[in-house]
Amino acid sequence: MEAHKVRQTFLDFFKSKQHHIVPSAPMVVKGDPTLLFNNSGMAPFKDIFLGNAPIKWARVADTQKCLRVSGKHNDLEEVGVDTYHHTMFEMLGNWSFGDYFKKEAITWAWELLTEVYKIDKNRLYVTVFEGSKEDGLAFDQEAYDTWKQFIDPSRILNGNKKDNFWEMGDTGPCGPCTEIHYDGRSDEERQTVSGALRVNNDDPLVIEIWNNVFMEFERRADGSLIKLPKQHVDTGMGFERLVRVLQGKSSNYDSDVFSPLINKIEELSGHRYKPEDEAHHKKQQLVNIAMRVIADHIRTISFSIADGQLPANTGAGYVIRRILRRAIRYGYQSLNLKEPFMYRIVPTLAHQMGEAFPELQAQKLLIEKVIKEEESSFYKTLEIGLKRIDQICIDTTTAKKQVVDGKQVFELYDTFGFPIDLTSLIARGYQLSIDEVAFNKYLDEQKNRSRAATAADTDDWVYVGITRQEAEKTQDKETDFVGYDALERETKIVRYRKVKQKNK
Ligand code: SER
Repeated sequence: MEAHKVRQTFLDFFKSKQHHIVPSAPMVVKGDPTLLFNNSGMAPFKDIFLGNAPIKWARVADTQKCLRVSGKHNDLEEVGVDTYHHTMFEMLGNWSFGDYFKKEAITWAWELLTEVYKIDKNRLYVTVFEGSKEDGLAFDQEAYDTWKQFIDPSRILNGNKKDNFWEMGDTGPCGPCTEIHYDGRSDEERQTVSGALRVNNDDPLVIEIWNNVFMEFERRADGSLIKLPKQHVDTGMGFERLVRVLQGKSSNYDSDVFSPLINKIEELSGHRYKPEDEAHHKKQQLVNIAMRVIADHIRTISFSIADGQLPANTGAGYVIRRILRRAIRYGYQSLNLKEPFMYRIVPTLAHQMGEAFPELQAQKLLIEKVIKEEESSFYKTLEIGLKRIDQICIDTTTAKKQVVDGKQVFELYDTFGFPIDLTSLIARGYQLSIDEVAFNKYLDEQKNRSRAATAADTDDWVYVGITRQEAEKTQDKETDFVGYDALERETKIVRYRKVKQKNK
């Protein structure tokens, strides 16, 4: 089944279960101090879960563009190195806002996977929340009992708070979840070691494909949990992983979500991408990693620009700039791409995904232009950086030292975007090594600084002259916009909270 068909099948299935289909919200978040990007399908619906926005449709399904490169959910370092993490990914979701709950969600998940997509039942495992003493929460008996109707108990595994209690951030809506995992190993391997032992164990062939969260609580700033006014369902299925499973591939990058991009990168670089089991040589592995990084990052950058977020020196724009530079560096280092190339992949991406996401087609020229300009200026920086490395190596040798100072290695990384292995490679050409320990110390210091700079805290709401319950009752009312007829209107504040802004 081709990728676009997989997406449509998901939406059609939930439409047949009376869900309203909505388009993806932009990936870039404006007006929420706690998030730079939507990091999950539920983020755009956060206010509905918390009872702060009215419920328009009780059942919704969508595919949401997500980005996990900052904050609580951050996969950046894995991306490209493994075959199943991404910066940007699509999350297929079905949503119940105060409507159905565990039984229906689990039953439909099973029906869709095994009867519509026809995934082999013997390769599926599920996890349920084992409970948490710390939070005073019990084992999720209802989820377990529902699963037992469909799947052998030996395939229902207990999961701890880390894996089976989903929280959007340090505060906000949360609840126990049940995950569905797929075992893509060979029959022989499956007979030798049970998939139950491989679930949540970093096996690249045994992967989580779908998470069903039962939102019941709100985590408050003081760490306590309170019950939400209503119970909701938030599900997130990793689209790229699902496509890979349905296409019988062992890597997300071998499916048709990524293969057109990889083909284009092969064409531009003259290198070949080889499936993982054929990429034994270190050199080929580096080529593979670079191609995966580029194929992944071009999506992130293009979708961000289409959503109005250009590369910049601060905030979300800085995240995008660094991702673009990460891709360029990999291309430069492992694929010998010595002039701007990323922008030339954009037409392939727009052609491939433009139907599902029309913004990509509409903004194609702008995206190409912005990327090309960014690349050109970064290549100049790279050249200056290369000269600088040479000078540092000459100075180190002249000073009769054998190790390049960690601070200088860090400066090359920080200012010129030079990864440590590139610097190390060049230094080796001068018979020098580099001080990795000191480099890591500077890197950690910088990470702590940037964590502190992007931290955003929201305190709990304080209610004024009204109880929380009374306030929640009034929130289902529609908001009236009166600005066309009036410039002033007397109003009453019923609640407020303190928010510490990003980068302030
Ligand atoms: N919020 C859950 C997740 O991101 C399910 O959508 O995994």
